[in-house]
Amino acid sequence: MIEKLNHIAIAVPNLEDAISMYRNVLGAEVTEPLDLPEHGVRVAFVELENTKVELLLPIGENSPITSYLNKNASGGMHHICYEVSDIIEARDKLLNNGMRILGGSEPKIGAHGKPVLFLHPKDFCGTLIELEQV
Ligand code: CO
Repeated sequence: MIEKLNHIAIAVPNLEDAISMYRNVLGAEVTEPLDLPEHGVRVAFVELENTKVELLLPIGENSPITSYLNKNASGGMHHICYEVSDIIEARDKLLNNGMRILGGSEPKIGAHGKPVLFLHPKDFCGTLIELEQV
């Protein structure tokens, strides 16, 4: 069901500092920041040959990243994203296995303009998982 690793997301307290560190210290290509108000985040992508790293800064009142940064002040790994070819089929299989989907079970449009779902970390070894249909 899951296919390629699409990205790893890191919550950051300062996006400009994180972009600068990835560009200037680690020597990576980083996209310009993009606001996704419906997800409560500003994102920039570190583009690697085999995957991406998503740098996430909380924006707005109810960002899901705020509580994470309250517990991890210097930032940290927030979620990993796997690709699926059919997100509805994947969702139904997960629900049939008793897995919990966060924020309702209808896919939302994610950072790449594609449908995504987030899965409960307690069901997946303590890791928040994003599924993205590609
Ligand atoms: Co993501």
